[in-house]
Amino acid sequence: AEIINISGKQKVAQEIAAKVKDGDVIGIGSGSTSYLALVAIAERIKTEGLNVKGITTSIEISMFCAKLGVPVTSLYEHQPDWLFDGADEVDPNNSLIKGRGGAMFKEKMLMSSSPVNYIIVDESKQVEKLCTNFPIPVEVFPQALLLAEKGLLELGATDIKIRPAKGKDGPVITENNNLILDCHFNEVPLTLEKDIKSITGVIESGLFIGYKPQIIMAAN
Ligand code: A5P
Repeated sequence: AEIINISGKQKVAQEIAAKVKDGDVIGIGSGSTSYLALVAIAERIKTEGLNVKGITTSIEISMFCAKLGVPVTSLYEHQPDWLFDGADEVDPNNSLIKGRGGAMFKEKMLMSSSPVNYIIVDESKQVEKLCTNFPIPVEVFPQALLLAEKGLLELGATDIKIRPAKGKDGPVITENNNLILDCHFNEVPLTLEKDIKSITGVIESGLFIGYKPQIIMAAN
């Protein structure tokens, strides 16, 4: 007999795809886990002829939608009925760090627009305390760099690194033409997300506190 070895993340991808109903507008997160769910959804659209639209959180995922034949729309026209996304860290209160892929601004816009949010992670993403394995990424308008660094240090950042690009000299430039500062904090108080956002020149951070996502844990 044929042995099909299906990974935990693939199983969860099927679970997400099973939630799709005809007519849904779905927010599509970024990263490798979201990609697997998108592939599973594309398969259902194709085989069942479902009328579904996606709102994407990155150019990368828009390109995958085009390749997989998933029609897309935007926040100009629609609000998502629900979304799925990945995360870098999840704490016991379901607060999140996101943005390893640099897409946190659009990811947060979508999560703020969506009434139901599924976050897919494996056990490696579970932490007792945020900032254990990942820094908090902060997207900053380039000319506000010094201002933002000063503000972040005042909020208690113990390490701030401008995210370097790969395959190109210099820093990462986001899809919104900004820089990313990866910031380590020893403590992450509940007010930190709002405090970071209030620094002039900060576009958004990858800290998600109080969004009440439903965490879907994939077996390793
Ligand atoms: C993208 O900017 C991120 O927020 C991703 O959702 C997050 O990094 C999870 O990615 P993986 O599913 O690839 O671990």
